[in-house]
Amino acid sequence: MLKVGIDLISFYTSSQYLDLNSLAEARGIDPQKFSVGIGQKQMCIATTDEDPITMGANAAAKILADCDKSSIQTVLFCTESSVDQSKAGGIFIHKLLDLPSNCRVVELKQACHSATSAVQLACGLVTRHPEKSVLIIASDIAHYDLNSPGESTQGCGAVALLIKADPRILVVEPATGCYTIDSVDFWRPNYSKTPIVIGKKSTLTYIKSAKECWKNLTEESNISFDEISAFCYHLPFSKIAEKAHTKVAKVGKSLKSDDELRSQLEPSLRYNQKIGNSYTASTYISFCSLLDNSLDLTNQKIGFFAFGSGSVGEFYYGTIVEGYKNVLKTKEHQAMFEAQTEISFETYLELHEFRHKELSEDCEFSQNTKGLFRLAAIKDQHRVYAKCEK
Ligand code: CAA
Repeated sequence: MLKVGIDLISFYTSSQYLDLNSLAEARGIDPQKFSVGIGQKQMCIATTDEDPITMGANAAAKILADCDKSSIQTVLFCTESSVDQSKAGGIFIHKLLDLPSNCRVVELKQACHSATSAVQLACGLVTRHPEKSVLIIASDIAHYDLNSPGESTQGCGAVALLIKADPRILVVEPATGCYTIDSVDFWRPNYSKTPIVIGKKSTLTYIKSAKECWKNLTEESNISFDEISAFCYHLPFSKIAEKAHTKVAKVGKSLKSDDELRSQLEPSLRYNQKIGNSYTASTYISFCSLLDNSLDLTNQKIGFFAFGSGSVGEFYYGTIVEGYKNVLKTKEHQAMFEAQTEISFETYLELHEFRHKELSEDCEFSQNTKGLFRLAAIKDQHRVYAKCEK
């Protein structure tokens, strides 16, 4: 059978972050609530000229140098912080990256789940046209109200994946387990810049979804929990994955100890603990974290759990390809973190207020991002993107 899966992967996040100790101090909260209670250290905050489009273009630019652009037949852009209600954000990226015009571009939405829908759809497309590839870009800014329980779970990031036949990183196995249930736990009406969250209910919905998806995966395939070496979960914050993983292990009748279960997850949590929630991108930034922070995963099976509030969950697994380390972007990822700078709580408040603004008037933005692309202006109510000047 044709092997299809992830041929290349890379991610981008902003060059600036707020330390959660600063947030805890400003809000009069015990810092351990963030470091231990939700398992997070920092959250990345986008600059004024960054948005899901510029971040997505930055993530994709890192992998395009290593592939044949002319084979990209489809671009699937996944986000829940869309910049337009009609035009697919991926079209801006298609232009910035000079992708072939004989290409379809579409935007997918189902809260944080859509990148995994994109992986499954892309595998189907490539199976039908094995000489073609699909570029998936998932990009989001997690923006909550000030002083709300969600404030400490903000963040921003984008990930790009190339899906291809005979992939160089991960063969996606065909079996998948899904669970959809209409749940009122987290949503963002069109008039609101921030989501409405029923926090505890959202965490319980996530955990139930992980268990139901695992059950469905085992109905659809013969895979057993203990055959899987490492797991990548959707990470609104890292503690939720640890909790869900323990419950899934129980459903899967795992013989692993608590320490073994923790070590199956730990390498995948590291990047998220510094970035914060990146909604659609988070499951695959978690995969980058696992790939970059593990010794050798060759031929090992990796489990993926994606969850989008509202809600849709999905569990699937893939097998790591021999030689995968040759195409990883580990050095670039590490350099990105090393170049980051901390911002003060006051700067965070200013940037938070900016993110709340309706950008409906024509205006120009100065260059603040350290990335390759920026939002340069709003002109005639349309977003104008540009390559950054060095
Ligand atoms: N030291 C150590 N631990 C502490 C502590 C301290 N001083 N103070 C509190 N804690 C612990 C609490 O005991 C709790 O742990 P348990 O859940 O194990 O009991 C944890 O810290 C969090 O404390 P609270 O439950 O009191 O926190 P909260 O209600 O203020 O906020 C939250 C938590 C509900 C997750 C909130 O951050 C939130 O609403 N976030 C946004 C929604 C979200 O991320 N939901 C996740 C599932 S939905 C999803 O996955 C989609 C998505 O991306 C949004």
